[in-house]
Parts: sequence; structure tokens; C-alpha cells
Amino acid sequence: MHIIFGTMTGNAEDLADRFAKRCEQENLPYSLTSADNWPMEKFQSAKRAVLIFSTWGEGEPPDDAIDFCESVYDQKAEVAHLEYAVVGLGDTSYDDFCGCARRLDESLKAAGATPFSERLELDIDFDDDFDAWTDKFFSSQKVLSQSHQG
Ligand SMILES: Cc1cc2nc3c(=O)[nH]c(=O)nc-3n(C[C@H](O)[C@H](O)[C@H](O)COP(=O)(O)O)c2cc1C
Repeated sequence: MHIIFGTMTGNAEDLADRFAKRCEQENLPYSLTSADNWPMEKFQSAKRAVLIFSTWGEGEPPDDAIDFCESVYDQKAEVAHLEYAVVGLGDTSYDDFCGCARRLDESLKAAGATPFSERLELDIDFDDDFDAWTDKFFSSQKVLSQSHQG
């Protein structure tokens, strides 16, 4: 599982770290990287990814993640084989709530990638909702691996 984050003030990175620790506990191999270290060639080779991105400006990506996001928005990556989930961080007092995450999700879907979970949009009080989403993800993993064994 590749965990990719885009952040300005560290919230998305904190959640990405938290997800990575959980992968470690559950013995799910992972990589954890900021979006600015993800050239599209590398992203195209990913099979499963969780993208955790905040929104800034008026619906824009975090500064470091602009190149990554614009390539995804413009559907420059071959992602038909990708299974992904998008987690957005934002603030409902802004007009374009979680706009960056929403555009990432819509663009990946339009390019043929398959979401393994509905997009999660988090408001400023995000801890409990993120933990509940993570719990749900790992329970579904367990069900999947049991059904593969059976
Ligand atoms: C100047 C500024 C602009 C923002 N613009 C938006 C926005 O357009 N939409 C949104 O949902 N959240 C917006 N936010 C809220 C941030 O996305 C939110 O605080 C988030 O938790 C930041 O996460 P980060 O630390 O990972 O960057 C904005 C925050 C600031 C300070």
C-alpha cells in the first residue's frame, strides 16, 4: 500500500503517519511519501494507494502537491490498474470544501482507476472520523483475506 500525502501545516502528514503505523501493526506492507516525491512515472506503477490531501487557497492543492495534483487532474497518468482511496482534509467554512481531494477522486475515477473506499472528507475536527474510517478499512481487509484463504 502506498500512502501519499499533500499538506501545508502537517495535518495530512499526521494522518498519513497514523495510517502507516496501523499498516505496520496489521502487517500490511506500505510506503509513505509526500506528493512532491511522487513523479507520475512512479505513480503509474502503483497498484494500491491511499491519498491524503488537504485543500488550500480556494479549493487548491497544498503548494508542494500542485504538480502531482495537476498531473492527476489532467489525467496524465495511466491509472486504469490502480485501486485507491482519497481522504480530504478541509474546513466546511470554505466554499470549496475538500476541493483538492474531490478533484483527485473524480479525475482518478474518470481515468479508469477503482476506488476501494468512498472518498472521506474531513472537517477541522478530524481525528475520530479518520480513526473510524481506518478501522473500517482494516476490518474489510481482514474479511477479504479470510475469503481468499477460504
Ligand atoms: C488560507 C487557508 C485556505 C484554506 N482553504 C480551504 C478550502 O478552500 N477548502 C477547504 O475545505 N479547506 C480549506 N482550508 C482548511 C485546511 O484545508 C485545513 O485546515 C486542513 O486541516 C489543513 O491541513 P494540512 O495541515 O494538512 O495542510 C484552508 C485553510 C487556510 C488557512
